[in-house]
Amino acid sequence: MISKVVIRSLAVCLVCMAVFACTQKKEKRVLNFPKTDLAAENMIPKPVKVIPTEGGFALDGFSAIYTSTAEGFPEIGQFLSEKIKGKTQLDIPVNIDEIPNMEGVIFINQSDSLELKAPESYQLYITPDSVILNSNSAAGAFRGIQTLRQIISENSNDTLAEYPVFTIPTGKIIDRPQFEYRGAMLDVARHFFDVDEVKKFIDILAYYKYNVLHFHLSDDQGWRIEIKSWPKLTEIGGSTEVGGEAGGYYTQEDYKELVAYAAKHHITIVPEIDMPGHTNAASVSYPFLNGNGKTPKLYEGMRVGFSTFDTRKDTVYDFIDDVVREISALSPGPYFHIGGDESHVTKKNDYIYFVERVEKIVQKYGKRMVGWDEIGQGNLDSSSISHFWNSKKNAMSAVKKGMKIIMSPAKKAYLDMQYDTLSKHGLHWAAYIPTDTAYNWNPESYEGIPIKNILGVEAPLWSETISNIDELEYLAFPRAIGYSELSWTTQENRDWENYKVRLANQAPFLDRMDVKYYPSPLIDWKTSKYSYKEIDKD
Ligand code: ACM
Repeated sequence: MISKVVIRSLAVCLVCMAVFACTQKKEKRVLNFPKTDLAAENMIPKPVKVIPTEGGFALDGFSAIYTSTAEGFPEIGQFLSEKIKGKTQLDIPVNIDEIPNMEGVIFINQSDSLELKAPESYQLYITPDSVILNSNSAAGAFRGIQTLRQIISENSNDTLAEYPVFTIPTGKIIDRPQFEYRGAMLDVARHFFDVDEVKKFIDILAYYKYNVLHFHLSDDQGWRIEIKSWPKLTEIGGSTEVGGEAGGYYTQEDYKELVAYAAKHHITIVPEIDMPGHTNAASVSYPFLNGNGKTPKLYEGMRVGFSTFDTRKDTVYDFIDDVVREISALSPGPYFHIGGDESHVTKKNDYIYFVERVEKIVQKYGKRMVGWDEIGQGNLDSSSISHFWNSKKNAMSAVKKGMKIIMSPAKKAYLDMQYDTLSKHGLHWAAYIPTDTAYNWNPESYEGIPIKNILGVEAPLWSETISNIDELEYLAFPRAIGYSELSWTTQENRDWENYKVRLANQAPFLDRMDVKYYPSPLIDWKTSKYSYKEIDKD
């Protein structure tokens, strides 16, 4: 058996044939694959349509990736190559000058076909000779790449050749998302998570076709983003977290780095500054903001509902204007989340006055306002978005105003709810949410909210009980994998019995990525044979 290193050098030599006049004759690629079944692959979220053919595409050291020159496409080719390297150790060149042979090529192609008009849609055509990924947009091509990553075999097939060959089953996949907003939320206020931890979370979300990371950047216990015009927010307000640890915050450079990292994964960051309640950290930093009549002190507990801005003071709105302006300038996405939940010590008419006035500030900086469902009490513009977590009545008020709704019912979609009474982390004030309960509900028809008003689904992860990436992963996974299917795949195409088998087969990926997921006893996990980790060059 020739060693892998020799084989890899040989492959590189072959690829560089034209440049170096390498005389080595290219070996015939393996084409006679054993039977494969694309429909039996463990894709999550499940695609709209999968049409298998018998056969396999050989991914090996002779393969190459070519992309359209359209914006974003070459980067996607590079991304795929890096991820293939992480999974298989194969070095697949991208857009090299010489096409070595039209066999064994993966094309990532920008196409204006009408069939691909829906945002983020893509089609994959896999034959023994080539893989063709067509999409109208880079975002769609990026989603298609995730599907491809999921169907590359875990193990190389040593009986086919004397070098590693990984199989991709042949057939056609036609796919597009049900909802345009597919999010997860991370509360970095109750406990702070650093840039690398957030990047790792983004890596996993991207694999399951999420397109939004909602960042809960402020709360009673901490303010986590540098605001240049109000520096004490982070100096004072960023110094604490739940349990008395040191807290932390993102500089604007850190935040930009995360926005760019998310953008590379076609994920939009939605910043949230929670107000007028959940504002103790801001009010300690600048006491003129405070409206609850008490002298604010740093807070490291877990209570909610005791803080409020003074909603009748113009200087409070000058402050908010600066905060929204600075954060909006760093956030290319269309949304700004103003929180608005649990303002129990704000009088109702003051609360309504506040959200209506802040909506205008958010719009001034070119963003659509998002707020937790309580904002539905205000007289808001139909472009604003209600984030349903608790009150059907509030969500329905928003629907009556023509507003869109993001579905995050706490009883079904909160990632910080415990799986069961034995869970190591999490709370259970809304419910226990085992892995099947998390999957077995229908955002399309939940609480009678009309589907035409639903922008999408989001799984929020509040961080009162978690303080590091392992604990984050314990609560987020596997449930966040199920939420990706709830937001991408239509109801008639979802089925728990089918899903749980596909979920069991995520274990090799999760192991390779070193994700400390909760090994739910409801799932017959297939553990990985691999000991090496995905290699990430970022
Ligand atoms: C919330 O859970 N207070 C939105």
